Amino acid sequence: MLVNMIQLQSHGDDRGLLISLERDKNIPFNIKRVYYSFGTQDGFVRGLHAHHRLKQMVIAVKGSCRFVLDDGNERVDVVLNSPYQALYIDSFLWREIHDISEDCVCMVLADNIYDESDYIRNYDDFLAEVKKRKSLSA
Ligand code: TYD
Repeated sequence: MLVNMIQLQSHGDDRGLLISLERDKNIPFNIKRVYYSFGTQDGFVRGLHAHHRLKQMVIAVKGSCRFVLDDGNERVDVVLNSPYQALYIDSFLWREIHDISEDCVCMVLADNIYDESDYIRNYDDFLAEVKKRKSLSA
């Protein structure tokens, strides 16, 4: 299943809202890194990579964007536009982020520290790796 969206619950009172992200409650991995992207210029596409091992959870805490997820066989679009939605991105999925609103702040939780060697930044390399994995598991 390419799209795994987790619905988050808020703790609200008269003062406002709060959403807590906690391992094993709503985050299915040990969080080792958190980063957020913002200030994307109009029309730019972000992402355009896959990870060999990294698992991530993405929340558009403000604004909206459209994720394209691709496992080498199938491509799906997922619009993120609510702080109540967390998109789980398993390892080895190509992702592109399109239609990023100017005010968009995307928070990402990751199960490992930043490691450039975990990235696949070329789509043809990704497809070649998908093919290789398929032939190894056949
Ligand atoms: P990149 O993953 O390409 O961002 P995006 O997919 O949002 O366009 O990262 C952009 C730059 O930031 C790149 O030079 C790597 C660097 N970077 C870090 O140093 N640490 C991090 O945790 C991340 C995610 C990126």
